[in-house]
Amino acid sequence: MCGIIGMASKHEFGSNDIIKMLKRLEYRGYDSFGIVTDKGMMEKEVGEIKPVKENRCSMALAHCRWATHGGVTRENAHPHTDCTGNIFLVHNGIISNYQELKNKLVGHKFTSETDTEVIAHFFEESLKTNDIKSSVLEFFRIAQGEFAIVMMLKGDKNLYALKRGSPLSLGLLDDGNVLASDIYAFSDKTEKAIFFNEDEFAIMNKDGYEFYKFLDNMLKPVSKEITVVKWSGTEEKNHFDHYMIKEINEEPEVAERLINSLRTEQKPGLEKLKELIQGAKRIVFVASGSSYHAALLGVYFLNKAGVEAHAVIASEFRNFYLVDDKTLLIAVSQSGETMDVIEALHGMKAKGAKIASLVNVPYSTIQRMSNVSINIEAGQEICVAATKSFVNQVVALTYLASVFGYEKDFSKIPDEIRDVFSQEGKIKQLAKSLKGEKDIYIIGRGYLYPVAREIALKIKEISYIHAEGMMGGELKHGTLALIEEGTPVIALIDNKPEIISNVMEIKARGGRIIAVTNRDDERFQESIRISAHNKFPFSIEASIAGQLLTYYIAKEKGLPIDKVRNLAKSVTVK
Ligand code: M6R
Repeated sequence: MCGIIGMASKHEFGSNDIIKMLKRLEYRGYDSFGIVTDKGMMEKEVGEIKPVKENRCSMALAHCRWATHGGVTRENAHPHTDCTGNIFLVHNGIISNYQELKNKLVGHKFTSETDTEVIAHFFEESLKTNDIKSSVLEFFRIAQGEFAIVMMLKGDKNLYALKRGSPLSLGLLDDGNVLASDIYAFSDKTEKAIFFNEDEFAIMNKDGYEFYKFLDNMLKPVSKEITVVKWSGTEEKNHFDHYMIKEINEEPEVAERLINSLRTEQKPGLEKLKELIQGAKRIVFVASGSSYHAALLGVYFLNKAGVEAHAVIASEFRNFYLVDDKTLLIAVSQSGETMDVIEALHGMKAKGAKIASLVNVPYSTIQRMSNVSINIEAGQEICVAATKSFVNQVVALTYLASVFGYEKDFSKIPDEIRDVFSQEGKIKQLAKSLKGEKDIYIIGRGYLYPVAREIALKIKEISYIHAEGMMGGELKHGTLALIEEGTPVIALIDNKPEIISNVMEIKARGGRIIAVTNRDDERFQESIRISAHNKFPFSIEASIAGQLLTYYIAKEKGLPIDKVRNLAKSVTVK
């Protein structure tokens, strides 16, 4: 969360050139944004990134914010500065001991409620008696939490960048250098990038850079490898009203691309993953949000193939799991930057566990931490909601299960996905009738339980309706008490007789059943038709039906959809 940029160039550039780059990081936070240039121009604003006053400059910092400490106000927007106005900085992360540091900065005047501003005052104080390297060293010693910081000092030709926890990369341009939270900010300008490792500090200017590592209480010079990166993504919505519906429409094509790549260029990676699975005593998936739901489905299909595996929510990983050097952790993450997942991996890597991953964003932190990584090939996903990335995670995980004998015909998947769109008209009608609801329940059994949870998550985050995804068999143990006349329940119905019993129990209490099903049954008052008869394509089709329903409910309600309140696409805080 939060996107940061710092650029130094041999040729003058415009403030809006930086704003355009910042726009590519907007998925990291859109509460407010800000920019400062070496020509003295500073602008901050609450809300989406917009063009700013044009200012020609040769160095600039910019930031888009997802609020953690301090409300969404102009004062709390970055860049932050010190009492003298000579230090400017942008920050992604949380300085967890900021209050303690602040208490020591007696006499300093703070103008925001943020943890970030404390960093500016810390450097103001330290630079009174130290040079920059000593001040940075001291900061590494005393700061707790996570940070990617880029700092500019008035009258100084350098930018200073520090990384602990939060991601940071350097792009090498023909006429200068750029620092950014991720390579997507500059991947349309250069293919040459350097990734910061933990506790690294860089001094960068238009002509070059130096890297240091905070190690053994000292800053030691380090040489860095240049990586050639290719990640263009796409920013166009084309004729679609929102990225969400565009990305849902891309699902048949991206699934096909993934299947082809798993059969060809990703085959060696898949083989390596198979070997790691065979050599492990324990296999644990670790993921958050939608990626966790995909992992639950992966576990189901792997279990069917005789491979014992478990899925654990990343933010609670350390409370539940015993890990040793015979454990294989498989991280599932669209962004490859989710802090909860990274934390779980760091802790367990230290215990000797092997790391594998399924990631969408190439060169991301999780991919770089992994012994082997499968790219899910969904392409850039801009809407906060995971849609095409979720589908491709499920395809990749089922393909992995097929390597162990869970045979499926993958060639039909793109067309089976296309079949769901034949239901779009009906889904739009249903959306109209559901837009005023306060609660929606979704039930499924077996492999359809993770799908029920995934649909509920989508409805909550995009349509702002409370939703609960449940195992059909669990209703009678409590939640049934909430079913009243007209309560909407989306039932994922394949060929299991038990789910029909659950549906009848709901109907008997006046509940409104919306069946997502491949069956003809006059007992379902309303239904969305699924063409698949096998589990794997059924799970995908039902998930997409849920995505479309969510989208059209939110559209009916006039909600922001791609940039919903309080969330950000990449969750880089704990
Ligand atoms: O990038 P990741 O897949 O690691 O992200 C995990 C979750 O934050 C993410 O799936 C989130 O739940 C989505 N907004 C759901 O649509």
